[in-house]
Amino acid sequence: MKTTTLVPALAFAALSMASAATPTPAPASSPSAAANAERMKWFDDARFGMFIHWGVYAVPAGEWQGKPVNGIGEWIMKNGRIPVKDYRAFAKDFTAANYDPAAWAKLAHDAGMRYIVITSKHHDGFALYDSKVTDWDVMNSGANRDLLAPLAAAARAQGLKFGLYYSQAQDWNHPGGGKAGGNKSWDPAQDGDYDAYLAKIALPQVKEIVAAYQPDILWWDTPTEMTHERVKPFAEFMATHPAIINNNRLGSGFAGDTKTPEQNIPPRGYPGERFEVCMTMNDTWGYKKNDHNWKSVRQILRNLSDISSKGGNFLLNVGPTPDGVIPPESVERLQAVGRWMDVNGEAIHGTQAGPFPRRLPWGRVTQRQNADGSQTLYVHVWDWPEDRRVVLPTVTVAPKSARWLAGGDTTTKIVPEGLEISLPENPLDPDVSVARLDFAAPVKVTQEPFITPGADGRVAFGALDADAHGHYDGNIQTRGSGTDVYLTDWKNAKWSLEYRFQAPTAGTWELSAEVAAPDPTSLTLEANKVPQTVTVPATGPGLTWKIVPLGKINLPAGETGFTLKGLPEGWKPLSVRHVWLTPVKTP
Ligand code: GLC
Repeated sequence: MKTTTLVPALAFAALSMASAATPTPAPASSPSAAANAERMKWFDDARFGMFIHWGVYAVPAGEWQGKPVNGIGEWIMKNGRIPVKDYRAFAKDFTAANYDPAAWAKLAHDAGMRYIVITSKHHDGFALYDSKVTDWDVMNSGANRDLLAPLAAAARAQGLKFGLYYSQAQDWNHPGGGKAGGNKSWDPAQDGDYDAYLAKIALPQVKEIVAAYQPDILWWDTPTEMTHERVKPFAEFMATHPAIINNNRLGSGFAGDTKTPEQNIPPRGYPGERFEVCMTMNDTWGYKKNDHNWKSVRQILRNLSDISSKGGNFLLNVGPTPDGVIPPESVERLQAVGRWMDVNGEAIHGTQAGPFPRRLPWGRVTQRQNADGSQTLYVHVWDWPEDRRVVLPTVTVAPKSARWLAGGDTTTKIVPEGLEISLPENPLDPDVSVARLDFAAPVKVTQEPFITPGADGRVAFGALDADAHGHYDGNIQTRGSGTDVYLTDWKNAKWSLEYRFQAPTAGTWELSAEVAAPDPTSLTLEANKVPQTVTVPATGPGLTWKIVPLGKINLPAGETGFTLKGLPEGWKPLSVRHVWLTPVKTP
């Protein structure tokens, strides 16, 4: 029996439904905030979980009628416009013949994951358990048995929490599901009334899975046309199970407990709010036989480090085969992550966002406030600076102790920029080396979250003052060290750089940038929601730096900024080092 301090159901209902209208968090002093913090403690401490997308879609595995179907594997029925009858025929080959839930739970546990979220019913409407309200479920498949109960038991036997993903709005196999939100049906068998689907299939199934598995998390998804009215019965039901954590994807205004950025890491996180980044290990959630674009162990570890440094959770996905095998590429990556977590897990589990408001050039920081009032900072060094020093900006006190989690002490000293940590010749870990610094009391960090104009009125941005907005397949990279930090590997036109600062007054600014562009290229400059195309001349081969004008922008007073983004067509990569805003004197 789980013991969890429950937010009083009424408060919970009010909390969740209040969020429906105005998501104002309960004031920190109110008992419900304290109870809610207790309720969420396991989630906040966990920081790392396993997402599992498993279903009939693993049978076609990205191909239909001998041809590849583009897109994520679990969307093959829609992307391939596969008729209901043909899709249901796959179910006999969904056998789970080699399914080993104990091995899955152990793999998650040994990787340092503290919870599992598995798809109980995805957009194809197939239930991985014996549902009383449909025959489109695992009992009419090659598996012919409940697949969720053994995993719930195995997860809990490993001390893990157990969550269920449920696609409440889209359902391509039950009449009425999946037509909302412009999801046009492609088979008359799909036609029906959406509200009837919600009442006859979705809500009863949610009640079934809660009753049968008492999940610790209910992971909603794609709330197409889930109006307040449609959300209400689901929210009211969940309010009767206040221990269950909800994400923010049930529908209109239902804030739930966590934001769910998908396939990308918000550059600044969501200060003061819970979030969980979900990400694939290759490019698909559901199994695709020909998706071999696996992320490196380094990418996975740095994502975990980055997300934790912003106070978020990382929900990393595996997509098992129809017979229940997690792809070996996923297994070997999770085992490598587990070896890292064996040494460095304390820098992730039970930590909070680091105290530095701006991006650090060499890595990330997480922190732990200890019961005795002391503070531990975990310094995650990603790229080993050539000068073998990293600085914690504006920190002016020395730690009581400083040591590498992989072994060995380190020395620190106060320097003008802050607290300098000296690094050994070689990294302790090829991907993320972690130093633990223990301070008698929380350090004071006076670094401004946003830069402000200098005495001459100009704003000088360095590479680290930019928030790089990437994509799940990568991002603009920070290279160099000291004053020579620059942004490069801008391989994708969809990626962008965002610059924020505090403007003393509203006004017009002249934008210029120091760039290295082997070929002429163009960018979209957007400020105050006004886009303009700016051209960048070729500056020369490789990193030939030149300062180029990028145009004029009008900005309001206060926290403001602008974004530089590639253009979809005819765009060529470039590197960026410094960027300046010069106030245009109004006559
Ligand atoms: C998207 C996809 C869905 C996947 C989910 C994971 O919503 O539609 O297939 O389960 O991302 O976050």
